[in-house]
Amino acid sequence: MKIAFFNTKQYDQEYFDRANQNAAQQIRYFSSHLNLESTSLITDEKVVCAFINDNLNAEVLHKLKSKGIELIALRSAGFNHVDVACAKQLSLPVVRVPAYSPFAVAEHAVGLLLCLNRGIHRAHNRIREGDFSLRNLMGFDIHGKTVGIIGTGKIGQAFANIMLGFGCKVIAYDVVHNEQCIKSGVTYVSLDNLLSHADVISLHCPLTPETYHLINQETLAKMRDGVTIINTSRGKLVDTKAIINSLKNGKVGLLGLDVYEEEEALFFEDFSKKGIQDDVLARLTTFPNVIITSHQGFFTQEAMLNIAQTTLSNINQFEQNGSIQNGVI
Ligand code: NAI
Repeated sequence: MKIAFFNTKQYDQEYFDRANQNAAQQIRYFSSHLNLESTSLITDEKVVCAFINDNLNAEVLHKLKSKGIELIALRSAGFNHVDVACAKQLSLPVVRVPAYSPFAVAEHAVGLLLCLNRGIHRAHNRIREGDFSLRNLMGFDIHGKTVGIIGTGKIGQAFANIMLGFGCKVIAYDVVHNEQCIKSGVTYVSLDNLLSHADVISLHCPLTPETYHLINQETLAKMRDGVTIINTSRGKLVDTKAIINSLKNGKVGLLGLDVYEEEEALFFEDFSKKGIQDDVLARLTTFPNVIITSHQGFFTQEAMLNIAQTTLSNINQFEQNGSIQNGVI
């Protein structure tokens, strides 16, 4: 099938070309994000391949349908950037990659935690300037701490297992209890109980109307003083202005973010010459106890290969018999 591949980076092309070695699919790569304007790039393609910072709102979906698009293949697990109700109404199937490497994201969350706690980012910069002092670098043992996980699906479970290996007490909140987590030693508690007992809170639930701004002024107030928060899930789970206030008054001791509320316009691009226009993000970057990465939790060789293989397999299935493999709910 002919595929219009939006929002392409060099690494996407490398991994998709590798997975499409037999050239079963004809892919045209575009660097533009998918939006109303860029739909004009589509000529006779039947499939659109999009990423998390592409905009698949009702207007774009109607346009895609009118251009003869038959399938939307997301090369991501999350689909909160798609108006799913509208896609259903238009009978426009949307497929995704539900799991490509939960370990990639869980390990990145652990990386943020370790780096923040021991000030590794600060020590690295300091030593390059010839400063070998230990000033302000004291961390805490992660062993023995209480780690609270919100969302114990594939990634949350992988994160829980690593934290159990560190010798932590792991408590969790989820609307569904994961039996494997319970067997491994995770204890499910209410959200309020988790907020008030955890030394470290890591977010691994999806963005839904229920989880939007789950971390807000009220939930922050219930947390332990100096709590560490790690968010590798979705930016809009956290009310950024509320968390900035909590960083200022010390309620939040350490903050690791791989995602940000308004990341769509920024992440994956290079603004090092222009500077960033987003004053809220700019303020966040001034805190020494905050680390921000640019939505790179998924970015490992294994995950990229799985993403490419599953996306192409989803498209092959559709082409062969019209069946929907890995359709969004
Ligand atoms: P999953 O679907 O396996 O697990 C999500 C869990 O969240 C489920 O157990 C579900 O019951 C729970 N959940 C749903 N609503 C909830 C609520 N209101 N409160 C508490 N828990 C709730 O998903 P997976 O694969 O573990 O991914 C989790 C999230 O990680 C994704 O939704 C996505 O936002 C994010 N992600 C981030 C990546 C990155 O590169 N930083 C890459 C891939 C995913």
